[in-house]
Amino acid sequence: MATFYSSSNSIIVSAIILKLLVSLVAFCCFMHGSSANFYQDFDITWGDGRANILDNGDLLTLSLDKASGSGFQSKNEYLFGKIHIQLKLVPGNSAGTVTAYYFSSQGPAHDEIDFEFLGNVSGQPYILHTNVFSQGKGDREQQFYLWFDPTADFHTYSILWNPQRIVFSVDGVAIREFKNLESIGIPFPKNQPMRIYSSLWNADDWATMGGRVKTDWTQAPFIASYKNFTANACVWSSGTSQCGSNNSPSSSSGSDNNNEWLWEELDYANAGRMKWVQETFMIYNYCTDYKRFPQGFPPECSATN
Ligand SMILES: *[C@@H]1O[C@H](CO)[C@@H](O)[C@H](O)[C@H]1NC(C)=O
Ligand SMILES: *[C@@H]1O[C@H](CO)[C@@H](O)[C@H](O)[C@H]1NC(C)=O
Repeated sequence: MATFYSSSNSIIVSAIILKLLVSLVAFCCFMHGSSANFYQDFDITWGDGRANILDNGDLLTLSLDKASGSGFQSKNEYLFGKIHIQLKLVPGNSAGTVTAYYFSSQGPAHDEIDFEFLGNVSGQPYILHTNVFSQGKGDREQQFYLWFDPTADFHTYSILWNPQRIVFSVDGVAIREFKNLESIGIPFPKNQPMRIYSSLWNADDWATMGGRVKTDWTQAPFIASYKNFTANACVWSSGTSQCGSNNSPSSSSGSDNNNEWLWEELDYANAGRMKWVQETFMIYNYCTDYKRFPQGFPPECSATN
């Protein structure tokens, strides 16, 4: 009998804990089952009419001309998230233009997770530039060519940001992983909520062939298009979200599929594809730039690359 009582008590206790966890998750996390609406999730923040939300919120376009670029930002701040957006980059001669899509916190020691697309003259490859800042420190650039023409159609660009890792993916293929290496003293973005930002601007002083190719303004306006933003993310609201701070995967199996991204890691197949992308398409890696780091590479380089 004693055994019966203690096991049923522990069942009750686990049920209560589970219920608390589920309500905590429901409270802190904001999930889109399907594709969202740009009106609902984003505000156009600059560009004086150059950024537009169209098709009842299904499409967003950014435009750049000689006078100005344009941009938008998420209404919400997030502390961890897995986000996807479909993006079609400026076609034709896009030299000197940069389209950016990133997470960023505010303030001096900020965190940031960056995708930047550096345009090129017609027929020449864009560069996909990535970087991770934690507590104000960036200098972690990795750049790639893409294995398709990113101006011909929409492609999906995703960021997984959970307490253990950041993974950049293109059409579901991981291209870069930045692991949480706090155990060896490297700060990881996990305390500052971040907003999602995107912008299209002119950077012909550095973007294309290191700034040697300038923007051809006779081609303006330059237009990038966005659709189908989806997110599983923890929304930060007046300091209340506890999402991800107690990151134990125990008991989550099967009970809440929507939350699995909080513990997601690269599986064997995706890790293999990432290795293929890095071997085949990576054109710059700070972790192999001897000239830049004559005193030795940053510690995460030997730990992750
Ligand atoms: C543009 O094309 C040139 C020539 O193919 C290439 O070297 C460069 O990496 C390309 N991308 C950018 C953004 O400069
Ligand atoms: C929208 O994005 C989601 C998540 O990436 C994807 O599963 C879905 O197929 C996309 N929808 C369309 C119409 O492309």
